[in-house]
Amino acid sequence: MPKLSKGAGQIYGEAAFEVLAKAQGLERKGKKILHFEIGEPDMETPDHISKAGIDAIKNKKTHYVPSIGLSDLRQAVVDEIEHTRGYRPDMEQIVITPGLKPGIFFTMLATVNPGDEVIYPDPGYPTYGSVSSFIGAKKVMVPLLEKNEFRMNPGDVLKRVTKKTKLLILNSPQNPTGSVMTKQEMDEIAEIAEENDFFIVSDEIYSKMTYDAKHYTPTLRDEAKERTVLLDGFSKYYAMTGWRLGYMVTPVGMAKRLQDFLVSAISCTASFTQYAGVEALKGDQDFISDMMNRFRKKRDCIVQGLNSIPGFSCKAPKGAFYAFANIKKTGMNASECADHLLNNAGVAALPGTAFGPYGEGYIRFSYATTIEKIDEAIENIKKSLE
Ligand SMILES: Cc1ncc(COP(=O)(O)O)c(C=O)c1O
Repeated sequence: MPKLSKGAGQIYGEAAFEVLAKAQGLERKGKKILHFEIGEPDMETPDHISKAGIDAIKNKKTHYVPSIGLSDLRQAVVDEIEHTRGYRPDMEQIVITPGLKPGIFFTMLATVNPGDEVIYPDPGYPTYGSVSSFIGAKKVMVPLLEKNEFRMNPGDVLKRVTKKTKLLILNSPQNPTGSVMTKQEMDEIAEIAEENDFFIVSDEIYSKMTYDAKHYTPTLRDEAKERTVLLDGFSKYYAMTGWRLGYMVTPVGMAKRLQDFLVSAISCTASFTQYAGVEALKGDQDFISDMMNRFRKKRDCIVQGLNSIPGFSCKAPKGAFYAFANIKKTGMNASECADHLLNNAGVAALPGTAFGPYGEGYIRFSYATTIEKIDEAIENIKKSLE
């Protein structure tokens, strides 16, 4: 085979899928595995949303649609942002994408040159570092520390800003720690971006998944008109990971360029999925509070369980559905501990280092599973450590 591109050698995958493959290998050999590795809700897409997608297919809505997205869905997003974020963007600012992830990829391609600096959270979602490497940007990680409840500290950001800083990525509620940033932290970081003239991409995929905390967006400062980009989507709180549907709120100038990226890369997001998205935003929202009530019980159960394991400690996360446990007192590092849990306790979870070097000493448990399985996993882990 001829040589692949430099970028192809730089881009990298996600440990969640690697651990899943290992766990499935053990399952094929007959071992029982409890799954805590994959980041998706354990509920099904609500029926009224699925029905809208199925009806769209039956009504022959199966053709190309505008690259930037269906007007009905873009309009629904305008209303949604006004309702949830407190400002009303223009329709020209809204871009529909197949999931949130392409929003990260395309915004970074549209804003960052090789050699530019990209600031992002560590531990953080692996895509940020992977795409930075692919572009040939310098990766500048801001440590999220347990003593600050894993929130990004504006002072730590400021220390890392240089003339080459081009983009900062924020993620709240956060994967893998479940932290939720405060309004003041968001405002201060948005101000730093303004003063130093760089872009902010705000990954808000868990925006409706908080406990005892309110979600804030840094895009409120300029209403996503100048330098901030809001990314959100349907994957998590509408339980639609497989539908592939997300959206962006961006400065109009960027939206116009992104349209050409979409034309070149995907033509458009699946049409019937977008009709389901309109129903998701406009239809009954009770599903989300029901889901979050169930998640809260699971969160309380896993946090209490993890804290009862010798050598483990875990703070109650304020958002998403991840518990980020400190395992430093077990004497194992994150990767040894994750292997131990899989092989000796039959529990698949992710080493914190899968999310960057500052994840050392931690394990991420996705608690999108049943209370019974959480209890069983805690017991198995305790026994395996005896
Ligand atoms: C922080 C974060 N951003 C983006 C995504 C991906 O979202 P989507 O499946 O809509 O592309 C995930 C999924 O795990 C995530 O945790």
